[in-house]
Amino acid sequence: MKVLAINGSPRKEWNTVEILSAALEKARQQGAEAELIHLDSLKFTGCKSCFACKRIGSASFGRCALQDDLKAVLDSILSADVALFGTPIYFSDVTAGIRALFERLWFPSLNYNKERTVNYPRNVVCGLVYTMNVADPKLYESLYQQHTSIMELLVGPTERFIVTDTMQFDDYSKYLSTMFDAAQKKRRHEEIFPQQKAEAAEWFSGLMEKKRKMEED
Ligand SMILES: Cc1cc2nc3c(=O)[nH]c(=O)nc-3n(C[C@H](O)[C@H](O)[C@H](O)COP(=O)(O)O)c2cc1C
Repeated sequence: MKVLAINGSPRKEWNTVEILSAALEKARQQGAEAELIHLDSLKFTGCKSCFACKRIGSASFGRCALQDDLKAVLDSILSADVALFGTPIYFSDVTAGIRALFERLWFPSLNYNKERTVNYPRNVVCGLVYTMNVADPKLYESLYQQHTSIMELLVGPTERFIVTDTMQFDDYSKYLSTMFDAAQKKRRHEEIFPQQKAEAAEWFSGLMEKKRKMEED
């Protein structure tokens, strides 16, 4: 089984990537080929509205025609069995990198025909991982729902994993951050976050099982 995790946080060792890595580790233990990609290491843009993916007879019909670092990532996603997309919440949304990736992943599959057909086989099981400062996961429910329904329509069955109340700095005393209870953040990071990583690994195991069942049917 080929699994892939995309880290949409510019930080390569923090909350989002730790959750993704826990999931990938579980996948490796089960014999899967697992790859982690840091979007922040790549040079790419969002959709340029060139419409090469929709031009009749175009060599890139149904695929993104842009030739930047995201091209190989998009190919890897579409050939994966399970793909994870991890993002911190930035101003009630995903990071700019994940947004650009979503545009480039989603738009080529959408056809502007009356039948509303899509171009991808929709056989990649997807996991959306959101990490955030706030404690109430319901705050961004409409965002997760929007992504889940688009991903399901275009890429494949999709589930989400939410991590709230993350620790944002290793030492809160060094940053202007009096609105937070530093001791509570530290405690949560030490006690709850490891449990969340273990839950993420189990959740991911379920995604791989879902893919196996899809193959059997
Ligand atoms: C530019 C910026 C904007 C943010 N906006 C939000 C927000 O709207 N809501 C929220 O809950 N957390 C917000 N956060 C906090 C991050 O989502 C949170 O700390 C996340 O877990 C960071 O992920 P990372 O540790 O993988 O980088 C923001 C952080 C940054 C840097």
